[in-house]
Amino acid sequence: MVSVRDVLKSKGRRRLVMVTAYDYVFARLVDLAGVDLILVGDSVGMVVHGLDSTIPVSMYMMLLHVSSVARARPRALVVGDMPFLSYETSVRDAVFNAGLMLKHGAEAVKIEGGEEYSDVVKALVRAGIPVMGHIGLTPQRKNLLGGYRRMGRKPGEAEELVRDALALEDAGAFSIVIEYTAADVAKKITEKVGIPTICIGSGPYCDGQVLVLHDLLGLYEEIPPFAKKYADLRSIIIEAVKKYADEVRKGLFPGEEHSFYSEKNKQGNG
Ligand code: KIV
Repeated sequence: MVSVRDVLKSKGRRRLVMVTAYDYVFARLVDLAGVDLILVGDSVGMVVHGLDSTIPVSMYMMLLHVSSVARARPRALVVGDMPFLSYETSVRDAVFNAGLMLKHGAEAVKIEGGEEYSDVVKALVRAGIPVMGHIGLTPQRKNLLGGYRRMGRKPGEAEELVRDALALEDAGAFSIVIEYTAADVAKKITEKVGIPTICIGSGPYCDGQVLVLHDLLGLYEEIPPFAKKYADLRSIIIEAVKKYADEVRKGLFPGEEHSFYSEKNKQGNG
């Protein structure tokens, strides 16, 4: 089983692999593939529930998906993403909601934000809840940022991101996601902090990488420019369902091998 300690110890030794999963079936599959961490991301709102952004994602939604993933009993560390307004309102709300994540099977939580959430991170860690930070592009703040834009390119942004990362480490976070940030800035952060950085769209110089599973598998129509499609499951699924529909319409499915008969007719028909 991968623990928070294992993640911390990996720094400078081996690259970490994190991927999102939102239910039992996919959690089992990605665990069999040997990933280190499974993130039950609030991206579930977009790639599973068809929402326009992660902002409407609720605690109820997250808890349902966290418990489904946890039921797979993966070897990988399960990280539950704290949705918008589950931790910003007060330290008390943050501890309460993160506690619910753990009660539903998460082994750690992720929160978006830097230095300004040091008090929240400290309170969660004090309560025994491991925290993964998330800096750079923080999609829950897309309205404030002016969209899903690249980070760390403007003067002053790099220094601010380094400050955020150091503050998160200082507050007790065990790792930090860096999203859609200039590769040189992500490199600088990775060199400055003693905890692993896990990047998405922030270049190769991090301690690990994360991708949204539906992007990686080619399940979602639109993928961000930094994601890589390793399979085209959309086509495979559409083809399989077309074949099923065709066989039903032609009377080819179900066949004899998928059917059974009553005792009377079985005897009668031989
Ligand atoms: O919700 C999510 O999937 C994430 C990753 C993009 C890091 O936060």
